Amino acid sequence: MDVDPIAYLFHASLASEAKGCEACSLRTGRTNVVFGKGPVPATMMAIGEGPGGDEDRTGEPFVGPAGVVLDTMFSSMGLRRDEVYVTNLVKCRPPKNRAPLTEEVDACTHRWLLRQVEEIVKPEVILALGSSATRFFFGEAISNVHGTWTTWRDRPVFALHHPAHFIWTESQGAEVAERARAQTRRDLGTLRDALRARALATPTGRPDEDRGRDPHSDQRDETKAASITAACRR
Ligand code: URA
Repeated sequence: MDVDPIAYLFHASLASEAKGCEACSLRTGRTNVVFGKGPVPATMMAIGEGPGGDEDRTGEPFVGPAGVVLDTMFSSMGLRRDEVYVTNLVKCRPPKNRAPLTEEVDACTHRWLLRQVEEIVKPEVILALGSSATRFFFGEAISNVHGTWTTWRDRPVFALHHPAHFIWTESQGAEVAERARAQTRRDLGTLRDALRARALATPTGRPDEDRGRDPHSDQRDETKAASITAACRR
C-alpha cells in the first residue's frame, strides 16, 4: 500500500496530542504513552492489550519478549513488522500489567483507537491479539473465537491468541505448550490463506495489489470491505 504523507503528519499530530491524555487513571503510572507504530495507511493493523514494562520505557509497542513472538507470527504470514501497523487497545501501561478495565478501554478507544483505525491507518484487516482485544471486537472470549473472523465497522477482524500466551504456555509443560503451538499454527494458516486469497500479502510478504488506490481518498470502499470479509471467512 502506498505511503500517505498526509496520514503520517496526522499520525504524528494525534500521537503528540495523546502524550497529554488524562482521560483515565492509567495516566498516573505511565512513563510514556505508547501510541502505535507502522506504515500509514497499512494493509494490516495488529491490536494488542496494553503496553508492558518495556513498551512503557521505550514508547513503542511490542518491543519486549511478546514482540519477538509477534514478529515470528508475522513472518509465518510472509509479513515483516514494518509492513504492519501495531498498537494496543489502551495506550498507557496498566499497573502490574493487569488487563485494562472496561472504563479504561472505553475512554482510550474512543479518543485514540477509533481515530487511528478510521482516519489514519485504514487497515484492510485487523488482527485482534489476545483476550482484551478479542472481547472488544467480538464481544466474546478468545477461547470461543480464536481463528475466526468478525466484521467491525465494515472491516474484517481476525482473533488470535496473544503472543504472551505462548510465553506462558511454555512454562506449563510440554503437552500444554505443544497444544497451544498447534492451535495457533492452524489459526495463522487460516489467516495466511485468507490474506493470500485477497493478495494482501504474497508468499514473500509484499503487498502486491491495490497499489492504484488513491492514498488521499477518504472514501471507504464498502464493497471491497465486504468482499474481503467474505473471502476471509472461507
Ligand atoms: N503486550 C501487549 O498487549 N502489548 C504490547 O505492546 C506489549 C505486550
